[in-house]
Amino acid sequence: MNKSLLTRCFFVLYLLTITCLATAAELPEISILATGGTIAGSGASATGSAYKAAVNPVDKVISAVPQLEQIARIRGEQICNISSQDMKPEYWLKLAARINQLFRLNLADGVVITHGTDTLEETAWFLNLTIAYDKPVVLTGSMRPGSALSADGAMNLYNAVAVAGAREARNKGVLVVMNDRIYSARGVRKCDTINPAAFDDRENGALGRVNYGKVSFNTRPDKKHTYQSLVKLPLFAGKLPEVPIIYGYAGIDPQMVETICQSNIRGIVYAGVGNGNPSEEVLNVLAKASAVGITVVRATRVPDGPVTLDAEVDDAKYGFIVSDSLTPQKARILLMLALHKDLDRSEIQRLYFEY
Ligand code: DGL
Repeated sequence: MNKSLLTRCFFVLYLLTITCLATAAELPEISILATGGTIAGSGASATGSAYKAAVNPVDKVISAVPQLEQIARIRGEQICNISSQDMKPEYWLKLAARINQLFRLNLADGVVITHGTDTLEETAWFLNLTIAYDKPVVLTGSMRPGSALSADGAMNLYNAVAVAGAREARNKGVLVVMNDRIYSARGVRKCDTINPAAFDDRENGALGRVNYGKVSFNTRPDKKHTYQSLVKLPLFAGKLPEVPIIYGYAGIDPQMVETICQSNIRGIVYAGVGNGNPSEEVLNVLAKASAVGITVVRATRVPDGPVTLDAEVDDAKYGFIVSDSLTPQKARILLMLALHKDLDRSEIQRLYFEY
């Protein structure tokens, strides 16, 4: 090969390398924080339902989707490796502290959290109230382990990274990406125990779609979130107050409710029937608890619709708070944070309507 042709080949190779490096440098820096779940799970058979969640480390979850490198510069971290029925506030605090640190030190343009689907909505909501930045934080998971036929985890992760790297995903609060849909942390919930289309936001609908990594938003959340949040935590937040949830039903024993109210708690969520209604006997127990300083939030076991003030229950008389359209499990998280910040009842009630 003559000298000038060789020179030209080297020059083309040099240009290609520079172009690739420049393109890579333009890709968003996305941190993937892994917590476990089915997306890190594995089963013995591709057609059998039996599997174990949270067996693969973050590197294996990421390496199963090599296409991620085409849309972002990826860095993986293992926060924990658990089935999300074992999720607890100490991991929420760890996630919130790490994400705030990544954004404060400008180490990430966006964050993706891989998570079990059972409590994914709770972690998303907690972070929606405690992240102090408007950069994208996106949670995702899977309903089938990677070993199953038509596993959903790989595309969910690819789509979550695409959303976390999208400029239009900023300033929309914490997001959940599952089954090609983008949901806000406030309204999303797991609505099906086994179907890959398990998640929905029946009150507000999806914020948008992500189809093979192509992100499109058709709306934005109408509540305050993340950096606007009143309940942002200091870096080392310490232990959050325990807040039990009691599920209402016909014939509930008021003594059981009384025993829980006397167990050194600062707040309680009552998932009542209908518009958050307790029975008359339970109402009397909750009224007494409220009178001695326990913050009582009326939520509902009904899947749709808000719990409204002063309908069948005279909330003003008893000092009760209503959960608005927050599910009992999310109403609990907001109350834990509000009590941790020592907010008074009128401020707490405002949080339920505004966040
Ligand atoms: N054990 C459940 C969890 O980790 C598995 C459900 C899932 O991740 O899809 O939430």
